[in-house]
Amino acid sequence: MYSKLVSANKPKKSDLLIFLVDKEADLSKIDLPENFITYIKKQLNENAKSVSVFYNAPISVLYIDDEDVSTQLRESVRKMGAAMIPKLNSQRIKSVFITDLSQVDRAAYFFAEGMTLANYQFEKYKKEKDKNALQEIRIGDKLITQSMLDRMQNVIDSVFEVRTLVNEPLNFLTATQLSKEIKRLGKASGFSVEVYEKKKIESLKMGGILAVNLGSIEPPTFSILEWKPKKAMNKQPIVLVGKGVVYDTGGLSLKPTANSMDFMKCDMAGAGAVIGAVNAVALNKLPLHVIGLVPATDNRPGGNAYVPGDVIKMYDGTTVEVLNTDAEGRMLLADSLAFAKSYKPELVINLATLTGASVRALGDCASALFGTASDEVKDSLKASGFSTHERLVEFPLWKEYGDMLRSDIADLKNLGGPMAGQITAAKFLQHFTDYPWMHIDIAGPAWLHRKRGYESKGGTGVGVRLLYHFLKKRSEV
Ligand code: BES
Ligand code: ZN
Ligand code: ZN
Repeated sequence: MYSKLVSANKPKKSDLLIFLVDKEADLSKIDLPENFITYIKKQLNENAKSVSVFYNAPISVLYIDDEDVSTQLRESVRKMGAAMIPKLNSQRIKSVFITDLSQVDRAAYFFAEGMTLANYQFEKYKKEKDKNALQEIRIGDKLITQSMLDRMQNVIDSVFEVRTLVNEPLNFLTATQLSKEIKRLGKASGFSVEVYEKKKIESLKMGGILAVNLGSIEPPTFSILEWKPKKAMNKQPIVLVGKGVVYDTGGLSLKPTANSMDFMKCDMAGAGAVIGAVNAVALNKLPLHVIGLVPATDNRPGGNAYVPGDVIKMYDGTTVEVLNTDAEGRMLLADSLAFAKSYKPELVINLATLTGASVRALGDCASALFGTASDEVKDSLKASGFSTHERLVEFPLWKEYGDMLRSDIADLKNLGGPMAGQITAAKFLQHFTDYPWMHIDIAGPAWLHRKRGYESKGGTGVGVRLLYHFLKKRSEV
């Protein structure tokens, strides 16, 4: 169903041959008769971006316009790879062989990344499955080794696991099922998993998680993922926290259905990003101690549901006046962030589809970043955002925004008001932290209402490549 990345010396007979060229490329290196080369040159001179010919095998010559600089160029090469996928699958091509004749840095690597990321399908619930034909992406480039490709494959496999988790509906993916999926991945990829069930969550007095769960007939879960290699470079762990609202109806502050509630199975995408990142870190055996925390429940207006006006005592003792039951993500995350203190972490990063306000501010092209970590750490994460094209835009955590969360009767209220909702939500979370911390509001990019390049319609798996890239860099210094 998905394709495999393979490093190869020469093409197989059945391969479709792909040549990446730019304006400097020496086209005579393509093993074709002179008149074919002349034809290809002519087409490229007339501004064709791709030329296809057939000589013993199907051949595509793709032109990389290297006007763009670095990360932009990388992304356009990924997109070129992605653009080939529908065509290849409709022609039932099983394997391709890529030769890079361009001067562009590691073009074949990024091209193959785009191809692989685009070759995703979610067909579980279809009777008539239209299985992708493409099985192998073979790369003939001495600088790109099989172990580099294996590592990339592991990250992309993790992205696909997340896309599938996000695409799974609530009638399969309850909080309990999510914790089972985490266990399955832990077994397969070598990280350990502990799941706290409702009783344990009650005994820990995680009031935020329990309040959101009151309206549900399904119990909540709190999953702890851990990758602790013997030679970890960090003494104190890096903790990743993900919002695992497996469905957000809004609770009694019910969401309207169209374009609002109808895609809220995506509300565990933050949990997905954490699961995918730990999975990739474990598969690639990064020498870092990483812990993932995933609080999970659905948010529903059941008979016992929490109501606007309720005052909830959180895990750390803070009291919160609930003014909108649809601001549930922060209730779950607050308990988890307070719980993270017990690890004395060197850094905590949480990811959440937290606010519509961040979607209004940035659309689906970027996530909102907030943080009390050092500028160096925040800059490193932003740089990873550009490298992976999972871009971040930082918003401030100024005190005035926190003042908007003052309650008349409790320590905090869970609603900031009509303005800057993504910032007041972040200020709410900040209250529960006492360590270097970053929060990423992925509400926009977590779910696409249309296909875009190598990202499928539906769950995108955003956050996995970003976190992996950031952690990999951290493991190399
Ligand atoms: N899950 C939503 C946020 C969301 C919106 C995610 C769009 C993905 C796409 C969140 O729980 C929510 O409902 N937030 C409210 C908060 C408000 C009531 C303070 C919002 O943003 O409207
Ligand atoms: Zn909500
Ligand atoms: Zn939500």
